Amino acid sequence: MTGSAGEQATPAPPAPSHTLDVPAPAKVNLFLRVLGPRDDGYHELETLVAPVGLADRLRVHAFSDAEVFRSLSVTLELAGSRRDAAGVPLDESNLVLRAAAALSEAAGGVRGFAEFVLEKRVPVSAGLGGGSGDAAAALRALNTLWNLDLGDEELARVGSAVGSDVPALLAGHPVVARGRGERIDAAAVAGLALVLVTFSFGVSTADAFGWWDEDGGQTGPDPAGALAALRPGALRDGGDLASLATLLRNDLEKPVAGRHPAVREVKERLRHAGVAAAIMSGSGPTVVGIRSPDMRRLDAQAERDLERIAGRPVLYVDSEGS
Ligand code: C5P
Repeated sequence: MTGSAGEQATPAPPAPSHTLDVPAPAKVNLFLRVLGPRDDGYHELETLVAPVGLADRLRVHAFSDAEVFRSLSVTLELAGSRRDAAGVPLDESNLVLRAAAALSEAAGGVRGFAEFVLEKRVPVSAGLGGGSGDAAAALRALNTLWNLDLGDEELARVGSAVGSDVPALLAGHPVVARGRGERIDAAAVAGLALVLVTFSFGVSTADAFGWWDEDGGQTGPDPAGALAALRPGALRDGGDLASLATLLRNDLEKPVAGRHPAVREVKERLRHAGVAAAIMSGSGPTVVGIRSPDMRRLDAQAERDLERIAGRPVLYVDSEGS
């Protein structure tokens, strides 16, 4: 599909209304429980996914008209800093291109074009759902620009074939995701002030789940306590915030930290710097620190130490509440 130019009968340039410039927010997992392997090679999980104020930017220029175009042409370009774009594939494995192909197929074959310009800001293979967030943004934008009018459920179904995190990122608010990630329920949780420690290396999702299997597959406790502690209003008093340290757990963290000790070092340094809780996000390696509302930032020494261990400066972001 990529690169096969459609034929345009009228040479007039498409109007600006055929372009959308949208943010593609990343996510953090505030708990992640792996229940066990499945027959299809995936793992059954239960995880709280919250969008955060760190986003890629996706510019989508697209149009469809079955009477004018004979085929579908889809292109993708990267914009922005080379370091942020490092490791982003430009071939059909890119989740934006896969999302366009899956959406066209679900709509019975779109004839027209889609041109994407992707500006990466979310680190790649970081456990922050960067690629899935791009796919979610692409699906929403194309649904509009191609006039497909698919409903949220249908979009989520298409998204789940593109990547396990896509349905959660399509939601745009905190959700509990179950199954392999495709079963989504809105979650009532407060927005949180966070510090993200990203790393100069990435972890593949398949590796993280493989290491969980290899290490004997430990499943953490029922997350009901964590959900109750994160309810809007429940966090107003600092005592509850402190309880998150014992309640938040990611079952992939131990297997990943076992292979990448920097993850554990960062977590310990964050706790020492005074965050209420620290947890690895998704399949890692990013570590999320939860700041109390009166902690604007870490002290300068902690910031320097964390950057030395992780290889990247810390980021201050908020997670979205419901
Ligand atoms: O769905 P996605 O392409 O993001 O998954 C990448 C890989 O991560 C899968 O091929 C699988 O190995 C692993 N995975 C898993 N269980 C999940 C999600 C992902 O084992 N629920």
